[in-house]
Amino acid sequence: MIRAGIFGATGYTGYELVKLLQRHPQVDVVFATSQSFAGQKLSDVYPQAPHLPLILGEDAPLDAVDVVFLCLPHAAAAETAVTALTAGVTVIDLSADFRLKDANTYASWYDKTHPAPHLLAEAVYGLTEFTRAQLTGARLVATPGCYPTSILLPLRPLLTSNLPITGPIIADAKSGISGAGRTPKQNTHFVEAHNNFSPYKIGRSHRHLPEIEQVMGWFRQDTPPLIFSPHLLPVERGILSTIYVNFVERVTLEEIRPYFTAMYANEPFICLLPDGELATLAHVTRTNRCAIGLTLAGNTLVITSAIDNLVKGAAGQAVQNMNVVFGIEETTGLTV
Ligand SMILES: NC(=O)c1ccc[n+]([C@@H]2O[C@H](COP(=O)([O-])OP(=O)(O)OC[C@H]3O[C@@H](n4cnc5c(N)ncnc54)[C@H](OP(=O)(O)O)[C@@H]3O)[C@@H](O)[C@H]2O)c1
Repeated sequence: MIRAGIFGATGYTGYELVKLLQRHPQVDVVFATSQSFAGQKLSDVYPQAPHLPLILGEDAPLDAVDVVFLCLPHAAAAETAVTALTAGVTVIDLSADFRLKDANTYASWYDKTHPAPHLLAEAVYGLTEFTRAQLTGARLVATPGCYPTSILLPLRPLLTSNLPITGPIIADAKSGISGAGRTPKQNTHFVEAHNNFSPYKIGRSHRHLPEIEQVMGWFRQDTPPLIFSPHLLPVERGILSTIYVNFVERVTLEEIRPYFTAMYANEPFICLLPDGELATLAHVTRTNRCAIGLTLAGNTLVITSAIDNLVKGAAGQAVQNMNVVFGIEETTGLTV
């Protein structure tokens, strides 16, 4: 059995992770932390989960675990990662702290000096389908952002192809409100969000932009720039990204699709939809799937890509990464 600890178990990703790990046949959850609810049961915080009598604590006995999951705000996560790694514990971080490879880029997008820049080179970017080989036996895993997961998975087959893409690539993405975390903010307040639909940080101003472009750069040197426009969708969970990729010359779906099937036909969590079928949140909610639909409009490929932000976009992908790190079947404990 893998002995696991969860930091930040009362947050949305932490709670999702507790639920996944408690039904994982090869994991024992040893501790779950909370500052605000220390000493209480997790089921006191989430009364809809009376089957989870886990006691929350501020203490984290690192000598009793093999792996910790950091479901914490950025910066707090990196500080905890240093302590856990020093204690010899594997770290799977769900925050943004170890995703960007450059500490200056991190500082400019996250308004903080990076607490542990010496660990950035070692951290493995845990978009599992891309980095399986590096994940095996890794000490520190940076679980990708939710929007980047929904955008990078469908872009990779195109970027690694020799298809003549011309920029910019446009990603128009909509996220359910749990993407903003449990701490209430004005724009996620029911009265502001209900019956509303709002763009925010559109163009090139959202923090996930440098993360997405960093990974796009792995696959193609002349990567077109990205225009990334997130929206707040008044649903509990789910991300739907509609991505527009332009080609220099006319292409057909018969030419494009083989790049997707070659890359993803055997991937358990990638659901390639038949030509013309559009990805929806219903394809993926409460699963670790990414559903991808392909539609051609003239010289533009319109991709629809859907994930559950709390599962493939966070806790599910973190478990998928843990499975690979510890060499167990990758789908264990996850809904395919
Ligand atoms: N929500 C998503 O869809 C999503 C997707 C991918 C990645 N992420 C990332 O995952 C991390 C957690 O996100 P979330 O949505 O679960 O956030 P959240 O709902 O706001 O929960 C944050 C958790 O961190 C704890 N916490 C807050 N400030 C802390 C501090 N200074 N030190 C220690 N613990 C602190 C809180 O616990 P107590 O108050 O009980 O102590 C709470 O359990 C974030 O870095 C986020 O960017 C989120």
